[in-house]
Amino acid sequence: MDGVTKTNREAWEAASHKHVREYDDLLAQAAAGSSLTAVERELLADILSHGPEVVHLQSGHGLEDTALVQAGAKSVVGVDYSAVAAGAAQRRADELGLACRYVVGMVPGVPLADSVADLVYTGKGALIWVDLGAWAGEVARLLRPGGHLFVYEGHPAVPLWTWDSDVPGIRTDRSYFAASHVNDTFPARGAIERQHTLGDIVTAVVTVGLELISLAEYPEPFWRPGGIRAAAWDGRLPNAYSLLARRPADAAGS
Ligand SMILES: C[S@@+](CC[C@H](N)C(=O)[O-])C[C@H]1O[C@@H](n2cnc3c(N)ncnc32)[C@H](O)[C@@H]1O
Repeated sequence: MDGVTKTNREAWEAASHKHVREYDDLLAQAAAGSSLTAVERELLADILSHGPEVVHLQSGHGLEDTALVQAGAKSVVGVDYSAVAAGAAQRRADELGLACRYVVGMVPGVPLADSVADLVYTGKGALIWVDLGAWAGEVARLLRPGGHLFVYEGHPAVPLWTWDSDVPGIRTDRSYFAASHVNDTFPARGAIERQHTLGDIVTAVVTVGLELISLAEYPEPFWRPGGIRAAAWDGRLPNAYSLLARRPADAAGS
C-alpha cells in the first residue's frame, strides 16, 4: 500500500467512528430510507424496478444501501476499506432486517467475484479517493453484461468554490487541473484528495468498454459542509453530477 493510500485509509478509519457515535440518528435515517436524492430515484427507477443485485463501492455509512433495498433492490453488498464504517453499516442493516452485506476491502482490489452486480452504485465523495483507471476497470469487472454503473458525485469543480455567503468565489490555492489537494473537511487528518476532471471521468468509463447513457450536472451540492449557506450553492454553479453507463449485453462473458 503506498503512503497516500495508507494515510487516507487511516484518516477514514478514524473519521468513521462518527458513524458509531451517531448510530441512533443514522439508524433512524436508514429506517426512513430517505438517503437517495430525487435525481437518484428518478434515474434509477427503471433499474430498481427489476430487483437488481447491487454492489456499492465505498459504501461509508451505508445509508444509501438501506434506501436502495427499500426502493426495490434485491440486495446490496457494500465495500469499504474502513472496518469501522462497514461494521456500523452492517449492524444497522441487520437491525432493520434489510438485505445488505458489508465487505471490508480496497477499491481497486474488491474481494468479490467477476460479474456479480446488476448495478454498481457509488459516489457522494467516493471517486476523489481512487485511481480512476483502476476504479473503472474494477467496475467493468464487477458488472454483469447489461449491468449498469450509477454515479452521483460532487462536481470536480467543487474544490474551487469558496464558502463566502455574499458572492460566489474561486479559491486562489486551488486549480481545476491540479492532481490533488489536502482534504480540509471530512475526513481531514491529512488525507489527500485526488482531482479528476469531468473529461477524465467520462473517458475512464468509456475506456473500459461501458456505454455512456447519461451525464448531467446540478447546482445543488450533495453535501453542505459547515452548516453555512455559501453563495456558490445558490444555483449558478455546478456542484454535483450524475453518470449512468451500461456494460454492453453482448460483452465477453455474456
Ligand atoms: C464520503 S464516503 C462515501 C459516501 C457514503 N455515502 C458516505 O457518506 O458514507 C467515502 C468512503 O470511501 C471509503 N474509501 C475511500 N477510499 C477507499 C478505497 N480506496 N477503497 C475502499 N474504500 C475507500 C472511505 O472509508 C469512506 O467510507
